[in-house]
Amino acid sequence: MSDEKIHIAPTSSEYDVIVSGNGLDCVGQYLAPLLPSRNVHIISDSNVATLYLERLRSSLAMQSIQSTCTVFPAGEASKNLATLSDILEDMAVSEVTRSSTAIALGGGVTGDMAGLAAALYMRGIPYVQIPTTLLAMVDSSVGGKCAVDLAAGKNLAGAFLQPLFVFADIATLRTLPDEVFADGCAEVIKHAVLADPELFGILAERPINKNDDDLYLMTVIATNIGIKRRFVEADEREQGQRKLLNLGHSIGHAVEAASGYTMGHGHAVAIGLTAIARASERLGWAEEGIAERIEAVVAAHGLPTRSPYPAEDLIGFARLDKKADGTGITLAIPESVGSPVLKHVSMYGFERIIELGIGA
Ligand code: NAD
Ligand code: GLY
Repeated sequence: MSDEKIHIAPTSSEYDVIVSGNGLDCVGQYLAPLLPSRNVHIISDSNVATLYLERLRSSLAMQSIQSTCTVFPAGEASKNLATLSDILEDMAVSEVTRSSTAIALGGGVTGDMAGLAAALYMRGIPYVQIPTTLLAMVDSSVGGKCAVDLAAGKNLAGAFLQPLFVFADIATLRTLPDEVFADGCAEVIKHAVLADPELFGILAERPINKNDDDLYLMTVIATNIGIKRRFVEADEREQGQRKLLNLGHSIGHAVEAASGYTMGHGHAVAIGLTAIARASERLGWAEEGIAERIEAVVAAHGLPTRSPYPAEDLIGFARLDKKADGTGITLAIPESVGSPVLKHVSMYGFERIIELGIGA
């Protein structure tokens, strides 16, 4: 099956995303003509490195690309300044130069940290994303947001740096634990609710799973990257329309924080997405029946639709949301599938929305 190529052209740079059926062993061929030099530093987590690091390094070696590596312990708990510091120190010890390229091999945690390391190292070197989770393929590897978490909250220290190239081999999805695959489904459903009623209908009829045939998975993933491209190209630095991509995230981040970051990002987003749909419908901001339709698709993908934490706990964490400004918070509201709007609400209003969305 031939690869799918999506070209992304935000204001600061442009690059291709390749969605491949089984191409990790060939990635060196794609990279060789793009790299400023034949030196790369691969950043990966402990699970992904065990599965795929040697295959990636062999593919690079076949093109005479020299690689050094940093492997950090897998999980959101590693997405912090201490791990970032270890990566940067390792890059220096490995004699990574300004003409080297960083490569993120892994999920969203790896991509976010590798991107930030690339933005900081020697005031900026290029980086490539090789996403290995569904979430990273459809969302985090595209668009240039990179960050680490601080004790005070998620993604609080970060930058925008677009990658040089993104290569998604869908065969890597087959080794994902089911709940990690489901995390990515939440972002897929979010994209469909935001921008693609046809995709939403398809997902309702045929929920995706990691063992779906290549054609179906590649089509869904490429469609999602195309949706993300539209928002990133229209508003690279999230001054306006890109905020719509935060649909479900304001409540979702509060859920994630309430779980002590033990709940997967996508699971929390699924709860946030269904909660904002319920609240919007109850307030008369969204069409009747939308919450039930979204809940059905979310549940069909093995994701939760109800918060295990009470509204008052979530309100406490929501007050710390970095997207809140002095006067309130801008929320993405799904008026109907394919027609979202941004609404600025006061913090008091947001707290009421959480109560409406989380309540029975
Ligand atoms: P993750 O990177 O922690 O990966 C989840 C788990 O799957 C990890 O244990 C990892 O080792 C394992 N894994 C990854 N690929 C695998 C594979 N192919 N086979 C087996 N195991 C594999 O988490 P994630 O869900 O990919 O990403 C979540 C992160 O992404 C969060 O930190 C979130 O804030 C961030 N994010 C960023 C953006 C952005 O635009 N930058 C967008 C959405 C989410
Ligand atoms: N994941 C939201 C964004 O990239 O803007």
